[in-house]
Amino acid sequence: MRILVTGGAGYIGSHMVRRLAQSGAELTVLDDLSTGHADAVRGAHFVRGDISDSAATAKLLAERKIEAVVHFAGSSLVAESVADPLKYQRRNVGGAAALLQAMDEAGVGKIVFSSSAAVYGEPRRLPIDETHPTQPVSPYGASKLAVERMLAERAAAHALQAVSLRYFNAAGAEPHAGLGERHDPETHLIPLVLRAASENASVSVFGDDYPTRDGTCVRDYIHVSDLCDAHLRALEWLAGGGRYDCFNLGNGDGATVLEVIEAARRVTGRDMRIRLAARRAGDPASLVADATKARRTLGWRPLHADIEAIVRDAWEFERRRAR
Ligand code: UFG
Repeated sequence: MRILVTGGAGYIGSHMVRRLAQSGAELTVLDDLSTGHADAVRGAHFVRGDISDSAATAKLLAERKIEAVVHFAGSSLVAESVADPLKYQRRNVGGAAALLQAMDEAGVGKIVFSSSAAVYGEPRRLPIDETHPTQPVSPYGASKLAVERMLAERAAAHALQAVSLRYFNAAGAEPHAGLGERHDPETHLIPLVLRAASENASVSVFGDDYPTRDGTCVRDYIHVSDLCDAHLRALEWLAGGGRYDCFNLGNGDGATVLEVIEAARRVTGRDMRIRLAARRAGDPASLVADATKARRTLGWRPLHADIEAIVRDAWEFERRRAR
């Protein structure tokens, strides 16, 4: 299959490119390198460009005879989206609209979209399934939901087949392939904890008075390899005639911030110091997925659910990178 991966130089995108290349797909990556790394793209034809340029994308889709798009490109910092909501409208919503326009022009009818648990907003019940109300509390979450709606509407008009995958907390790495999380600035818990471990520094814990088992926030960390698996299955579902659906991707089991730090202590053998900080605005106490639908419809099952295994892979990536 000939596939375009937008944002294929990013964290999850680069893992997906590797997985698709292994499955024998013929790959094109479109990435503007605003946050991604060209050296993370292997086994694909790489084009540096912006999805907002729909004429250029339409040309690329036609030239490369693309049959399906896996769409990761976009901005994904919740705090930044609060400070600069227009950027998220422009890049995430406008970018997706331009991409869909290009697909329309080039006659490409299948897309798998990288969405987020942020579409749900403050949870009303746990675990969260796909029937949970969607009331995002950040412009980032709102931008993901807007794109999902665009896809659902296009699919209802029989103009497209699409899947939205709502990731919970993407984590982990494929260290043997030299792939992992390389954000700048880094805001995610696991890489920050590991950085604190390697630099003998302290790690901030944002709030310890949440209504959870140890007072710190619970998140459903899902290994990036398991996310890739779900994308492959989503592509198969579309090839089998699926029209539109959205799926949660999580383990259904959460870890607290302190449990993540404990896991990192065991994995690294280092005892990083903890600094208690104020709650971070907009952080819900707990986010845990009910991913039954992905299991039933896509036959997806996470294989790396253990938080220690996720942290170990991330640590191995950090260590190899430091060498
Ligand atoms: N945290 C700390 N200290 C840190 C960094 C994070 O205590 O230095 C805590 C956060 O408060 C949160 C947890 O660790 O409770 C996880 O935080 P991350 O920043 O790693 O991840 P988020 O849960 O904020 O964000 C993730 C994705 C977003 C997505 C969001 C959905 O990264 O893209 O889930 O709510 F929007």
